[in-house]
Amino acid sequence: MKDFKQQEHVDVMSMTGFAEDVLKGLSAKPKYLLSKYFYDDEGSRIFQQIMQMPEYYLTDCEMEIFKTQKQDIFASFSNDGRPFDLIELGAGDGLKTIVLLEHFLTQQATFEYLPIDISEEALRNLTASIKTKLPSLSIKGMAGDYFQMMETINQYDHHKKILLFLGSNIGNFNEDEANDFLQKLRSVMQKNDLLFIGFDMKKDSEIILKAYNDSHGYTAQFNLNLLLRINRELGTDFRPDYFRHKEIYNAQTGTAKSYLFSLEKQAVIFPEFNESLFFEKGEPVFMEMSQKYDAEMINTLAEQAGFKVVRNFHDSRQYYVNSLWKLIK
Ligand code: AVJ
Repeated sequence: MKDFKQQEHVDVMSMTGFAEDVLKGLSAKPKYLLSKYFYDDEGSRIFQQIMQMPEYYLTDCEMEIFKTQKQDIFASFSNDGRPFDLIELGAGDGLKTIVLLEHFLTQQATFEYLPIDISEEALRNLTASIKTKLPSLSIKGMAGDYFQMMETINQYDHHKKILLFLGSNIGNFNEDEANDFLQKLRSVMQKNDLLFIGFDMKKDSEIILKAYNDSHGYTAQFNLNLLLRINRELGTDFRPDYFRHKEIYNAQTGTAKSYLFSLEKQAVIFPEFNESLFFEKGEPVFMEMSQKYDAEMINTLAEQAGFKVVRNFHDSRQYYVNSLWKLIK
């Protein structure tokens, strides 16, 4: 965990982790890459473009919920007027969160905003836009991945903590990973702390596929950027035109999965490891899962990890839910 204001240098350890994870995933059968690596600075920029497309309804839904229900959200966060710390995991550009922050300020709430993100550039931009839009807000950004930051979160125990995990980021985890992550969050939470999570709901598969097969090609670019990142950081020679992105949605389980398919039989050299990796023509590389939920799945997830649903906030189309959780005593 690094305070991005103080540390600008590249972390050599995490670099090693990246190379090893890439080699491991691409040597596995079937091949995969870890979606957390999408978010280098370039990947975070592409993701911001994805969020601006109308097809990517998730952002609009969460924005609608915040804009129309900010009073209720504020009342559920702080019914006693006591100060709180608002800690956002994977804050990104924070565009939706700003709607809540602004409202909280107009309600004279005493709180600090602590956004955490894996991209230092995204954090710098977020901090800059908060400084302009909400100059009176106290903000402290921290760069790191979800698991590195648990220790830091744990240190914030002077005030009531409200953890924000928005944008259906949880959808990137499979059931076991989600459970594991939620247990870790629970372990850094106290009795009165709250967890506010965004869930994308199961819906018509056409709508879901359009969000991840967009006509602008941003989602394809987002996936292919990971190959380019591997080239940039590991000196490989991936050719993005030799791969094609495809999204597949299983309506029964609610799981959307994205893949890059190798269009040719090809070899890619990894100079760092003195190794070549081989791809068959038509071979898929599993890139990301984006889980969709129903009400029952959300309740089960909460209960299994030791939480209780306090209240659900959904948009007018019922596409999306922001679910507020507390610890089971
Ligand atoms: C940021 C994980 C919520 O899965 O919907 C968007 C990432 N991938 N388009 C999602 C993403 C392709 C996004 N999350």
